[in-house]
Amino acid sequence: MSQTAKPFLRALAGETLTPPPFWLMRQAGRYLPEYRATRTEAGSFLELCYNPKLAVEVTLQPLRRYGFDAAILFSDILVIPDALGQKVSFREGEGPVLPPIRSARDLDGLDASGFLDRLAPVLATVKGLSSAIPATTALIGFAGAPWTVATYMIEGGGSKDFSHAKRLMWGEPETFARLMALLVQATGDYLLAQIDAGAEVIQIFDTWAGALPEAEFRRWVIAPTRALVERIHGERPGVKVIGFPRGAGLLSLAYVEETGVDGVSLDTGMPLDWAAANLQTKCTVQGNLDPILVVAGGEAMDAAIDNILTKLGKGPFIFNLGHGIVPQTPPDHVARLAERVKGWRG
Ligand code: CP3
Repeated sequence: MSQTAKPFLRALAGETLTPPPFWLMRQAGRYLPEYRATRTEAGSFLELCYNPKLAVEVTLQPLRRYGFDAAILFSDILVIPDALGQKVSFREGEGPVLPPIRSARDLDGLDASGFLDRLAPVLATVKGLSSAIPATTALIGFAGAPWTVATYMIEGGGSKDFSHAKRLMWGEPETFARLMALLVQATGDYLLAQIDAGAEVIQIFDTWAGALPEAEFRRWVIAPTRALVERIHGERPGVKVIGFPRGAGLLSLAYVEETGVDGVSLDTGMPLDWAAANLQTKCTVQGNLDPILVVAGGEAMDAAIDNILTKLGKGPFIFNLGHGIVPQTPPDHVARLAERVKGWRG
């Protein structure tokens, strides 16, 4: 099968497909009993990320159940700090924990040499997947955007208000700029290596883009993302990039116009008519069902799916959620969603 025959790649190239291709952010994960079994076998979440055989297996699990049009590499955005020498751990129910970087001295403790070698197991997963996925399924590689990864590195984990990250950004701008430059370089190297291992599309997750005021959004969300998109388009022509500037609201327009992304993933709060009129005219849109509606299921979910398909299905579109699927999601609700999207006839 030629690449262009894959519906996911056709939609990203600007075609309108009925029904649209679909996949779900965090489609591999704890809501699936077979994922929980494989994670136990691996020992921990990070050991699973660094075990190519088992990471390939958990990537394939949701494809077997639901027939998604895209597979997304099973890994995490925090393997970059881990590979830079900032040791990451995941504690059950607590999320990620890292020794925080809050000064120039902390930053000097990172070690970018041998960075890609430490990510060899993840690249081996990409390679394994490119021969294991069905012929009509596209393979998505990914990374966190520099700003979002920087928040975890500076806060030392998740945060409600990003006070440490913002304090470094405004209070020690040179140190912050140095960290961001390091992340742009490392993330670009890593994404090109994923493409060379077989990733056909790249998604850049900027989960905390919406936390920044306009000027800082332009400088630390748009500019680094544009640098990554330009590098990918320049050095690996033909590979498409999807951006996910979660919470960007009206700034999504500048994000799409100025980063050069081929697709934009819409969060749950994005008004559909505005997105159709202002974003879908410039690139492919993806999204944006509220993940909690898949927990609720039933008619509320069906109606929301139909509304999204009606409003975004008339242009280049990929059906997805507005954020990642949550662990308490009943797998049969995902089956119902899949059936409804695949049965859509416009
Ligand atoms: O989408 C997929 O199926 C591919 C795999 C993937 C994971 N994380 C697996 C994962 C992807 C693309 C990510 C991206 C990611 N990781 C983001 C950006 C997207 C988003 O959700 O906003 C962020 C911010 C992270 C950082 C991260 N990883 C957090 C905050 C957590 C803890 C929260 C949680 O859900 O437990 C993780 C852990 C994580 N990443 C899990 C999975 C399947 C759960 C780990 C487990 O099995 O216990």
